Amino acid sequence: MEDMSYWKEVWERKGNGNTTCLEELDGYEDTTADVKEIAKQIVKELDIKETDRILEVACGAGGLAQYIKCGEYVGVDYSSSLVKRHIELLNNSVLHGEANNLIFKDKTFDKVFCFGAFHYFPNQEYAKQAISELKRVAKEAIFIGDLPMTSHRKEHLLYDKNDFKDWKITDGYYNPCRFNVSLKLV
Ligand SMILES: C[S@@+](CC[C@H](N)C(=O)[O-])C[C@H]1O[C@@H](n2cnc3c(N)ncnc32)[C@H](O)[C@@H]1O
Repeated sequence: MEDMSYWKEVWERKGNGNTTCLEELDGYEDTTADVKEIAKQIVKELDIKETDRILEVACGAGGLAQYIKCGEYVGVDYSSSLVKRHIELLNNSVLHGEANNLIFKDKTFDKVFCFGAFHYFPNQEYAKQAISELKRVAKEAIFIGDLPMTSHRKEHLLYDKNDFKDWKITDGYYNPCRFNVSLKLV
């Protein structure tokens, strides 16, 4: 799946819908995901403290962000409509951008996470670039969640646990066909 435009258009449309439900804007409406619980697990996994500077890559409208308490939260997403909704609904600092090309300087954030987005990337090369960007802008740790091993959608990019040998791997939070990875940088 090399075409960037397919999923980008889907997420652009999402943000232009009428709902103000953050979970729905972020695409969780037809899933069993408990978004509050997922946020709790990410806070635990990354040991997010109330003083931490946090970046969420592919943050959407803020489905998870609404539950993350930290010193400073910054989000990035490639959907302009979702960025707009996120700012309107949560008043967070959110920038428009691609996961594989972050505008921040090295080690700008204490911890960086990306949940529920890697399967929308166009190919493995893009995913590798995104991982090195996450590592570059983080000081202490990064977390990537919801990586699918298999999927009912042919448009989803799939991942293999064997490609994350130096990482801590955990089971998907709501879907047994998915897994999460995290890496301590210090
Ligand atoms: C399922 S939503 C998850 C949103 C948020 N992380 C959450 O869990 O509530 C997926 C998000 O990934 C974003 N996204 C997908 N591919 C992206 C890319 N290449 N760069 C930046 N954002 C991307 C979409 O616009 C969408 O907001």
